[in-house]
Amino acid sequence: MRKKIIAGNWKMNKTPREAAEFAAKLKNKVKNSGHDVVFCVPAVCILPVADILMGTDVAVGAQNMHWEDSGAFTGEISAKMLKDAGASYVVIGHSERREYFGETDAGVNKKAVKAIAEGLTPIICVGETLEQRWENRTIGLVRRQVGVAYKGVSAGDAQKTVVAYEPIWAIGTGVTATSAQAEEVCAAIRAMLCELYGDPVSQQIRIQYGGSVSEKNASELFRMPNIDGGLVGGASLKMDFEKIVFF
Ligand code: PGA
Repeated sequence: MRKKIIAGNWKMNKTPREAAEFAAKLKNKVKNSGHDVVFCVPAVCILPVADILMGTDVAVGAQNMHWEDSGAFTGEISAKMLKDAGASYVVIGHSERREYFGETDAGVNKKAVKAIAEGLTPIICVGETLEQRWENRTIGLVRRQVGVAYKGVSAGDAQKTVVAYEPIWAIGTGVTATSAQAEEVCAAIRAMLCELYGDPVSQQIRIQYGGSVSEKNASELFRMPNIDGGLVGGASLKMDFEKIVFF
């Protein structure tokens, strides 16, 4: 049985002080759930939130990273820095980063490889636009995104990674994929991972669904056979995140 993983993606919300305050309240609600719970916070909030979560089973994640260790990359943050600040996960290739910051599949691959090398668990995001879905290109697209993201990643390392299937049309829109739609694509992602790494490894890799997850739909989504939890945006900024964690 794969352990469920429920990650909050706070996006560009909360100052370090606000983040610490919110994490201090929320941790008591979401700790000891039996699932892996992660708060993916803005980079400047990692240190204070990690401090607050110390001694609990709630982990801290980052929302992006650079694939180099250090150097002349103004404005960037390395995996080493994130790790040292207290992060153990990092979201990679979120559709907002692909859309607004020009992230490519090849860049996602470099980041994933580096995250793993530094001992961070990458949450690798894939997903289609509404137009691509209408044109029946969803499965082909996510297969390509997964194929490129895992280039050069060994089977042993792949086991430790997390994939987040996030249909772009469902992110922040209040329109959720049906559990059948989400399951179909998550199953296709697992089939692709099986082609790359074989069945036992693909059965270990956790695949989240993301896109307007709420306390109303989490239970049905997270109980699908190939959905191992969620990447939750808007609803992770409210105390009701508790209800999603204990779906
Ligand atoms: P949402 O965001 O839950 O607000 O739709 C999900 C995400 O972008 O990870």
